[in-house]
Amino acid sequence: MSYETILVETHERVGLIRLNRPEALNALNSTLLHELMSALEAFDADDGIGAMVITGSDKIFAAGADIKQMSQASLVEMLKSDFIPAFERIRKIKKPVIAAVSGWALGGGCELALACDMIVASEKAKFGQPEINLGVIPGAGGTQRLTLAVGKALAMEMVLNNRTLSAAEALHHGLVNRVESIESYLESALQLAAEIAARAPLAVQFGKEAVNNIFELSLSEGLAAERRAFYTLFATADQKEGMAAFIEKRTPHWKGK
Ligand code: CAA
Repeated sequence: MSYETILVETHERVGLIRLNRPEALNALNSTLLHELMSALEAFDADDGIGAMVITGSDKIFAAGADIKQMSQASLVEMLKSDFIPAFERIRKIKKPVIAAVSGWALGGGCELALACDMIVASEKAKFGQPEINLGVIPGAGGTQRLTLAVGKALAMEMVLNNRTLSAAEALHHGLVNRVESIESYLESALQLAAEIAARAPLAVQFGKEAVNNIFELSLSEGLAAERRAFYTLFATADQKEGMAAFIEKRTPHWKGK
């Protein structure tokens, strides 16, 4: 499938999606967002792929929603728009998605990174929610996921006063998993994705779902769901293989069954 605003590659069991609207600093217009979600869904449905990486360029991850596209929109047009609902599609992806961020991840760009399961940042990465400068607020999860990630005090400053975070600050506050040099951040994200993609696929899927439950369910519901998922994995060939391999002191061979 060919796309207008993204570039898609496969690296063995890892699907890589590059945001590619350099003329608009990868601003997320409807076309880009729909292409991105379609590519993620295609990788999610492909048994040959175990994890995905989303990146921009070394200079910019994404400058947010496309301000030119929405500047004259009416309330009714915004309500009818499929732009922000497109962000929701990323929540339904079962396989892990890693954002490899360099340069600005602003507004919807920061929200896109936050919607991924993990973030690998370059030392040049910068994160912010500058919507207040435009007379609006984040609309694609910025007030929610950001607050869960960095806590209320810092999220308030970011949303209300355009406080931005350097890569080092983002690491300190738990927004990103690791910070790498500009030369190695993408390779590091691909390596992390490849390692996860080589693991037992159903355990990875259940693990992702169980961790994400903390954002959706009460603790007792989340613990009950985790326990059910743990027991359910005993119906898989990979659980028998994984435990047998441990006892026999050999490397397990996963079947995804
Ligand atoms: N939408 C549309 N076009 C954008 C854009 C955006 N979000 N960000 C940058 N561009 C365009 C610029 O208009 C410019 O185009 P022209 O050459 O045609 O004028 C081009 O990209 C280059 O931009 P700059 O000249 O501004 O580049 P810079 O290096 O001086 O600054 C920047 C870079 C700091 C990222 C700056 O472009 C900027 O602040 N962008 C806007 C960031 C922003 O406000 N994002 C939030 C959007 S709202 C949102 O995301 C809502 C939501 O929650 C979903």
